[in-house]
Amino acid sequence: MSALDEARDLLASLSGAPVAGVWSSAGRVNLIGEHTDYNEGFVLPFAIDRRTYAAVGVRADDIVRVASTFDPDHPVEMPIARLATVFAGDAGAAVQRGEVPEWAAYPLGVAWAALDAAGRGAHTVAGLDIAFASDVPVGAGLSSSAAIEGATAFALDELWQLGLEGIQLAQIGRTAENEAVGAPTGIMDQVSSMLGRVDAGTFLDCRSLEFEPVDLGFAREGLVLLVIDTQVKHAHSTGGYRDRREACERGAAHLGVPALRNVGVDDLDRARSVLDEVTFRRVRHIVTENQRVLDTVRTLREQGPRAIGELLLASHASMRDDFEISVAELDTAVDAAVAAGALGARMTGGGFGGAAIALVEAGAEEHVSRAVTDAFAQAGFAQPRIFPVTASAGAGRDV
Ligand code: GLA
Repeated sequence: MSALDEARDLLASLSGAPVAGVWSSAGRVNLIGEHTDYNEGFVLPFAIDRRTYAAVGVRADDIVRVASTFDPDHPVEMPIARLATVFAGDAGAAVQRGEVPEWAAYPLGVAWAALDAAGRGAHTVAGLDIAFASDVPVGAGLSSSAAIEGATAFALDELWQLGLEGIQLAQIGRTAENEAVGAPTGIMDQVSSMLGRVDAGTFLDCRSLEFEPVDLGFAREGLVLLVIDTQVKHAHSTGGYRDRREACERGAAHLGVPALRNVGVDDLDRARSVLDEVTFRRVRHIVTENQRVLDTVRTLREQGPRAIGELLLASHASMRDDFEISVAELDTAVDAAVAAGALGARMTGGGFGGAAIALVEAGAEEHVSRAVTDAFAQAGFAQPRIFPVTASAGAGRDV
């Protein structure tokens, strides 16, 4: 059964109320530009052909109830007027106190942030039942969280007549993630999940929030982009992600700039003399990665996707050696894919697990997949999940 039908069925079993509509948003792969978003730099992600669906029914009362096929017997409900009390305050506190399960904090956090952004009182909107189903793998670094935020945000915007723009809905998703869930992430995932276009990357300036589609042309050039999900799970609300973010902020403060966006490749010599060795390497990753995003956009436009392999590899090396967010499984995936003929490969997303991507010749998918799977077996790692993705549309209404 398709995820869309699963969402509809779950809604029917939940409430029996008629479906007011089904909305969805995409998972995403980041082609290049990692950890640059919260440094106000550049990214080039794209929405993928894996989606999260939200089937929505309107209630006669003032309650928002959310349910997911991942845990169908435990829907979570809350009066709309309580959302602000629960989520305003310390980031992620309601989740940490166990008041709201983490998965439900994404959609309920979106409901809270959307009302706040639109300047609407809780009593001006109808209660809703929202049932989610998804074929975006969870914890694989493919932004299953942005997909649930996007499906919710687009549904609420229409049903509650909030009149918000796409970029505002992306910001609402990020607010939910930062404040309600407590994960200190940037804006990349939400923009690519919600505002992606078919066959295009989303070149986003994370400072101005201006974005434009960049033709990827993989299929036209006889190429396929494989995702290699290492099955190593990661979470961004704790641990390494937060630590790297703090290192970047420390680096920017020592260099006297508002964000590392302001530091160019030519400034790195000075940065080396001011910063301690580890902070310098964290800074160097961000600075060179921003440059690689710009170079990738230019290369795609001038030479096409066959010419970007070296940039992908350089990005991976920088994350492995300077930013130190790769893991052995991701390095093995990249090395084995390249040894088997991939034009380029890199880990994608926040790191510490999740997925790698490999750009391969159409027709070579099997060969590369087998090589990676063999390398994993040899290293004693769990079997990876490998599948192709295509650049797809962002969020919208399906039914
Ligand atoms: C996660 C975050 C994004 C971004 C990436 C790293 O996906 O949600 O905001 O920081 O990591 O590029």
